[in-house]
Formats: sequence, C-alpha cells, structure tokens
Amino acid sequence: MNNMVDEKAQSLGILQVDFSGADTVVTTANRKMRKQIERAYEREVKHERVNYIPGPRYASDGKGARRKFNLRGSLKIFGRKQRITTFTMAAAYPFTASSTHGVPGACIGVDEEGGGAFYFDPWELYAAGIIKGMSAVVLGSVGMGKSTCVKSTTSRLVLSGRKATVMSDKKGEWDIVAAYLGGNTITVGAGSETRINVLDEGNRPSYDTKKRPMTDKKWAKTVATRRLTLLRALAEILEERRLSSAEIKALSFGLRQAVAVAEGQGRVPIIPDFIEAIASPDFEALGSKNDSPKVRQAFETLYDTFTRLIDGDLEGMFDGESTVTFDANAPIVTFNTQSLDDLPEEARKIAFACIQSWAEAAITSGDFGKRLVIYEEGSEVLNDPGSLRRMVSQWKLARAYGIFNILVLHKLGDLDLAGDAGSKTRADAYSLLGDSAVRIVYHQESDQKALAKETLGLTEREWQRVTNFKTGQGLWKLSNDSFVVRNTMTAPEVPIFNTDQKIKTAA
Ligand SMILES: Nc1ncnc2c1ncn2[C@@H]1O[C@H](COP(=O)(O)OP(=O)(O)O)[C@@H](O)[C@H]1O
Ligand SMILES: [Mg+2]
Repeated sequence: MNNMVDEKAQSLGILQVDFSGADTVVTTANRKMRKQIERAYEREVKHERVNYIPGPRYASDGKGARRKFNLRGSLKIFGRKQRITTFTMAAAYPFTASSTHGVPGACIGVDEEGGGAFYFDPWELYAAGIIKGMSAVVLGSVGMGKSTCVKSTTSRLVLSGRKATVMSDKKGEWDIVAAYLGGNTITVGAGSETRINVLDEGNRPSYDTKKRPMTDKKWAKTVATRRLTLLRALAEILEERRLSSAEIKALSFGLRQAVAVAEGQGRVPIIPDFIEAIASPDFEALGSKNDSPKVRQAFETLYDTFTRLIDGDLEGMFDGESTVTFDANAPIVTFNTQSLDDLPEEARKIAFACIQSWAEAAITSGDFGKRLVIYEEGSEVLNDPGSLRRMVSQWKLARAYGIFNILVLHKLGDLDLAGDAGSKTRADAYSLLGDSAVRIVYHQESDQKALAKETLGLTEREWQRVTNFKTGQGLWKLSNDSFVVRNTMTAPEVPIFNTDQKIKTAA
C-alpha cells in the first residue's frame, strides 16, 4: 500500500502501526485500516471539513441541501459528498474532548443516555478531579464484551501514547492485539523456551513514591523486600499455610546469602543459589542468637519446599537467568499464559506469582510513561492470598508511578473466592473493589443484585439497566457520575478484538 498515506497520517499524529508477525487477519485488518485512514484524511483534513453537521443534509439526487434552514442554504459544497461517522473520526483522531464529562481521552463508544461519544483517559480524568484513584474493576458475565471493552480502551489509549501490560492472558487472545499495536508478547509455559528469573532486580526508577530521588540504599531495600515477599508467597502456596517467624527468618537469611554469593561472582542471583544457601546455611554468619533448633528445622522445611519448585511441573521456567527482557519502552507487553492452563492449580498459582512479581519489578517506575496494567483473570488473583496481597500493595504505588490498574471479574461473587469470611484476605479483596475509582459494569445475572447495590453503590435504576444490557453495553461509574456506554469497534478492529471461534480459526 501507499507509503505516502502513512507519512501523511503519521505527520498528523493519527496512527502508527507496525505489524510485526502479521498473519492473514492482521494483514486484512491492516489494509482496511490504511484505507480508512486514507479516506479520513481525504475527506476530513484535506477538504478541511472537520466540522461535520449530523443529519441528512443532502437530497438523494445530490442537488444541494435538503433542509430548508440548513446553515449552508442552497450552497453546494465542492468535493465528494461523503460522510465519515463521528465514531470513525474519533477513532482516527483519538484525543478529543468528550461531550459528556468534558475531559479529553480515547473514544470508547456511544454515550447512550447523554448522546454523543464517550471518551476515557484515566490520567486526564484524575487531573480533572473526576476520579479519585487509579484503578478500575470490569464486571460482567462471560461473553458480554468485557475483554472487547478492555482491548479497545487499551488499544486506543496506546495509539495515543500510553503504554500497557497484560499480566496474564489465559486465552492467548492478546497476542494479535500486541502485534497490532507494535508491542511484544512473552509466552510462558510448557514448550516455550522462555525463562524468567524471578530474582531479577527490575527497572530502577529515578525517583521513589514520594518523588524523591531513588538512592542506592533505598533501591537495595526495595529489591530485597520484593524478593523476600515473592519467596514467601511461593513457600506459602507450596505449603498451603502461612510461614512461621522462624521460617521467615530462615528465608530472609538464605536470600541474603544467595545474593552475596551471586554478587561475588558478578551475576544476578537465581533460585538455585537460594536453594543452595538454605541447603547449607552458614550458621556462624547467622549468629548464635538466631541459631535455634526451630530455625534449623525451618531451613530443612524450606529446602524441601523449594526443591519442589525446580523439580516439578515448573522445571525450567523460573529457575535460571532470564532468557527474555521486559521491554518497558514497548507500547504493550502481554504475557501469554495459555499453556499454563493444563498445569495443576498449585503450579499455576506459582507461575502467576512469578510473572506478576517479575513484571511489577519492571514497571513500578515512572520513567517509562503512563501505563495501563491489566489483570484479565481477576478471579485467579483473588484465589491466591499471596497474589492478592502483592496486588493490594502494588495498587497503592500505582498513582506515584503513573500506573492505572484494570481488574476483570465475572461477577461480584468472585470476591468471595478470597479467603474465609471475615479474614484479612477477604477484606483485601473487597478493598480492591472499594478503592477502584472506575467501575465498569456489564450484564450481570439477577442473583448478583444485592451485592451489586451494596458494594458498587448502584441505584435501583442503574441495576435495572445493567440486567437488561446487551453485549457491548456497560455502565461506567466514574466516582459519582455514571454513563451508559455502548462500546463500538471500527471495522479493522473487529477481527483483532473478536474472540468468536470462527474468527479465531481463520487467524
Ligand atoms: N462492543 C461490542 N460490539 C459488538 N460485538 C461485541 C462487542 N463486545 C463484544 N462483542 C462480541 O461478543 C464476543 C465476546 O466478547 P468478549 O469481549 O470476549 O466477552 P467477555 O470477555 O466478557 O467474555 C466478541 O467476540 C464479540 O463478537
Ligand atoms: Mg474475556
């Protein structure tokens, strides 16, 4: 296709699309989209007809204005009398002020109650004081369009300069989206050569959460805490219980020893270093104060626990130096975790904890621009206390590092997957929802009514709308305001966002 069009479009800041690894669907979509850009450019920019007046303006015979009091009277407009829909316009020129809340953002779709298009950009909304926090929860029954909504929001924000990370893509449905946006997919699991070193330092931010310069000392502490938190979470998944204080002491000592050994050899520590350290701890260095039979026993228990990590189902995935890097400058990075689906639940939880921790280490930094972080399988996060705990603490850092988190859940009842009633874990799960500044509610089954009204603060009228929603419709609650939005897709986006089987097999 014509390169000139690309240059023209790009000089206008319309779209920049690099289709690495394109397959047939992407190529077709690519062609369609370029055509669309070309047409949008021809009609709306070249002829300076960006002020489109909606409604039937011309008689069908093409001879002048139909409406008597048309502002243009009977004058004919030169050029081809064709129109672009406001939506196509908005998708081609993503950052435009909204007719609804007046804050610029990416066009998501049609505001069905207010009229006009609905725009969304969390950072702009936060700056305008419309939302009070930096996280969203998307709720909705299967097949009602949650993923489509998240994909379209993400794509359009990424095309206007934001970044994105998809923490776990169980269905592999984001690969094509990442390719479309010129980003990367990291495939983890059996059959993949990819290995992730969970003890990697991550990207050191230039400032801390209080906007003070990140010193060496502070950074060392941050890294040590993150590593310890992860190892503790892994041990707790494997042991199915909370660790004792002697075990935590042993864990922390083993980690310090492993780091010292690796650094002495001028390389990054890996899990086998840690296992070696707890297999033969240096009791002298541990000090007589800490050298109790309880601590000695703890080392033995931990050794048994962690050898299961490198010998079992996850062998080769997390137990050596990383074979991939997380490119924090890429527009989007997604983790395809499709092949983890066949693993036992315990192994899946561990894998997810490792990926989450590794990715967080790379993105908790304000140096790479504003970023959406998407948890597609929210229920898996809620199902694991360690993962939930990490998430709660990570969400607290979100604003300082320019991160906007999106958690996708099927139903509110999923919150009760977390821990026992009354437990700290359950409270954490509810706090994730309670703290979410944006709530996007797709169709819900009627049995969710009480919970929805109570935890989401939906009014009776809003609830009535939610139960009658069709695919693609959602209620967007932005702090106190709520909007009924029909998420729209442009023709080229359909094959990229669609999860329908027929399209999948064509891909
Ligand atoms: N806004 C929309 N407009 C048209 N069709 C849609 C829309 N959202 C979803 N769909 C259709 O519904 C299917 C399922 O959507 P999906 O986003 O995967 O649902 P969920 O993630 O909630 O299970 C999509 O493949 C698509 O065919
Ligand atoms: Mg989905």
